[in-house]
Amino acid sequence: MEPTQATAAVAISEHFATIADVDEAIRANAAIERIQSQGIPEYIAPRRLTAFEKPFFERSLELRQLIFMKHFYSESDAVTQIFQREHERNRIAAKSEKVPRKYLDSFRKTFRDLNDECNNAFGYKVRWFLDLGCAPGGFATWLLRNNKKARGTGITLSSGSGGLQFQLDAKLRERFWVYFDDVCRFAMGQAILGTPGRGFDLVLANASIMLGGDVVPWNQSVRLTHAQLLMAVQHLAPNGTLVMSLKARPLHWIVDIVEVLRDLFTSVVAVKPQSQARRSFVYMVCRGFRADVGSKGRYILRLRECLEYLNNITGPIDAPSGGTENIPRLHGVEGEALADESYQYVIGLFRNAWIRQYSAIRLHYESALQPSKPVDPELDSSTSEDVAAGSQ
Ligand SMILES: C[S@@+](CC[C@H](N)C(=O)[O-])C[C@H]1O[C@@H](n2cnc3c(N)ncnc32)[C@H](O)[C@@H]1O
Repeated sequence: MEPTQATAAVAISEHFATIADVDEAIRANAAIERIQSQGIPEYIAPRRLTAFEKPFFERSLELRQLIFMKHFYSESDAVTQIFQREHERNRIAAKSEKVPRKYLDSFRKTFRDLNDECNNAFGYKVRWFLDLGCAPGGFATWLLRNNKKARGTGITLSSGSGGLQFQLDAKLRERFWVYFDDVCRFAMGQAILGTPGRGFDLVLANASIMLGGDVVPWNQSVRLTHAQLLMAVQHLAPNGTLVMSLKARPLHWIVDIVEVLRDLFTSVVAVKPQSQARRSFVYMVCRGFRADVGSKGRYILRLRECLEYLNNITGPIDAPSGGTENIPRLHGVEGEALADESYQYVIGLFRNAWIRQYSAIRLHYESALQPSKPVDPELDSSTSEDVAAGSQ
């Protein structure tokens, strides 16, 4: 397909005056014929599309559209101005003496949406859950209110160590125990968790480093994800459920984790609640934990190796002899190529999340280009935006 006049200057998105211009540029750029004849444009930086992701990009129109949309959005002056105002508001709120309850409420609503999207999978049946990164306490609030017999155990960083403040209501705290500590210490066996005999019937893995404005070293955030998976493998009861937040990108290490989840659970779906639709992650809802003793032991050993690697690695995320590409493999054999079926599986898993994220970014972009058009506040509740940063 020949480039049209409208697409000639598409890399310079500040020139887009209307969302219709953006739509037209994405339509032209994401067309597979154009990619095949002209290659992937250079302005799509490697941090936004790694070599490992390219075959996914070529196979999925939804992923191509999302990557172009993220690029144009992050380049837009109008959007940048909105982010600057948002960051300033968050910075002032974080400094205020009185910690607002809006984050707790927003996580509670997210869990409500998640439950709705999973046909009420978490109402009335939860008995004992483990909540990793439990502050401010939104997920726990929803679960304890909607499961009168449930009890919970949480692990979360203390405020003194940079964690969010834990704000669960006093009445609900009667059924919830908290360790103010680092999840990674439990995963590495440096701290001991009290567990119910059979294990937890639900594990929530939603700890993420939130250092308002500071750049989080890549190895620490990837390590935290692996540590949470290790905790789930160690402490889930047979047939239990894991809800784990994961980047919705087919990165090397993410696909490896997806393969593990697929192996360990009878059902795996990726859910993107509308209230966090602009952000680049999904909640993996994994039901029917079915690890036998052998596979459990094998994954525990491999996950520990990953934690060691991530603890000791320095240098950039894409270093050829380090980085994420060289994290020890969890599933399959080192260096083994991905099967065609796995590409289809991963694309099928993330497709709806990519579509939803695309629509949410497009709506926000439209309102930035046309300030008279208000944004739905439910949609605009991200606490820290990772789309524009394009972080891996
Ligand atoms: C996205 S918030 C979780 C929100 C929570 N699910 C809720 O419903 O309120 C992430 C939490 O993880 C905590 N966190 C970050 N790193 C951690 C670590 N290494 N160990 C324990 N908690 C951690 C943060 O302080 C924050 O409270």
